[in-house]
Amino acid sequence: MKTIILELSGYRETGTLSPADEEKLKQGAEILRSGGLLAFPTETVYGLGGNALLKAASKNIYAAKGRPSDNPLIVHISELSELSPVVKEIPARARILAEKFWPGPLTMILEKSEIVPPETTGGLPTVAVRMPEHAVARRLIKLAGIPVAAPSANTSGKPSPTCAEHVIEDLNGKIDCIIDGGAAGIGLESTIVDVSGGEAVLLRPGAVTRAMLSEALGEEVALDPALEKPLEKDVHPKAPGMKYRHYAPKAPMLLIQEKPAEGLTAGGEKAEKRTDAGIWKTEETSGYAALNCREARLSAAVIAAADEKLAEGKRVGLLCSEETYPLYESHYRGKENLLLDCIGSRRAEQSIAHNLFSALRKMDKNGAEFIVAEGVPEERLGYAIMNRLKKAAAQNILYV
Ligand code: TXA
Ligand code: MG
Repeated sequence: MKTIILELSGYRETGTLSPADEEKLKQGAEILRSGGLLAFPTETVYGLGGNALLKAASKNIYAAKGRPSDNPLIVHISELSELSPVVKEIPARARILAEKFWPGPLTMILEKSEIVPPETTGGLPTVAVRMPEHAVARRLIKLAGIPVAAPSANTSGKPSPTCAEHVIEDLNGKIDCIIDGGAAGIGLESTIVDVSGGEAVLLRPGAVTRAMLSEALGEEVALDPALEKPLEKDVHPKAPGMKYRHYAPKAPMLLIQEKPAEGLTAGGEKAEKRTDAGIWKTEETSGYAALNCREARLSAAVIAAADEKLAEGKRVGLLCSEETYPLYESHYRGKENLLLDCIGSRRAEQSIAHNLFSALRKMDKNGAEFIVAEGVPEERLGYAIMNRLKKAAAQNILYV
């Protein structure tokens, strides 16, 4: 199959849709309506969209991704009135969270209505629903006039795509169309919260943090046990997708993490603010900051691990931060087998979220045979970053 690539040049240049972009989105919407598959940008990652109400479209999504069909898809809507047709009821918690966080990077699990076929929900009686904030995603869904089922637009098991090039790498020739709207802002998939039962349960951490959800609901949001400990055979995560080795580069990976600070709860407690760009942001960076002693200990352990693999003759990838980069750069200067990649600032974790998946893909491309990655503090967005890093490392973590 020939995949059409539609570049939204107006949107990429100005951040608003031009008349030419609008025409391309109409073309995309027609593909969705007629049962085709199309990848599109959202504020989290690129999605692979199909008509959520059409069995055949959902089946084709699984086939294109090479994804197990027990792993349900997220149904995307463009406005609140599109929620009630796909769910049995809208519980009070869902109303509160929709009001507060939609459009945005939050997916809610609700009881599904009759019109959503079991093919879309992996046979579950519930459906995952999200209203994305990205202008392209919302306009496309609106023009299509149907709920759009969209998992991340990667081959199953690979890191989620954060730009059109990643989608091309994985799905070119397997789907009808790719809409190129530039880089996704946040870079990590949406938060998933189950509001279908008697309590709200966090199934996947993302840019809407557990602390933000708890604050909005005025009650503590529970954590799915699968988030708390490495998966054992008898643990069945409520989000089936969380059980697969995900976000993973080809090379084995070691994650080196500071021992958690006393008294910090999972998901972080500190408040976040939103910027105009729609990207979740925490504190500002103030340029180069000296390493604190925990960071110094962390980088010493990273160097020890990387040196050991280099001594075995391996090509080693090292994922580091702006703060630690100068140290590694001088230590490894001239070492061809060491691939050093700075993925963002520890003082501004949204920069790390934004670059993480792209960095993991780059490691594969550059032929890394082993990857050593620095962990980040598990506060705020750091909790979601660490969730993805732990999966990429298949839970191979060294605490120092
Ligand atoms: O940010 C995102 O959510 C992106 C963009 C494209 O919107 N989509 C995305 O979809 O990450 P996907 O398919 O890669 O991840 C969906 C996750 C999987 O872990 C799946 O198991 C879970 O959502 N999920 C979907 N429906 C569910 C349900 N009814 N109950 C529990 N988990 C569900
Ligand atoms: Mg995915």
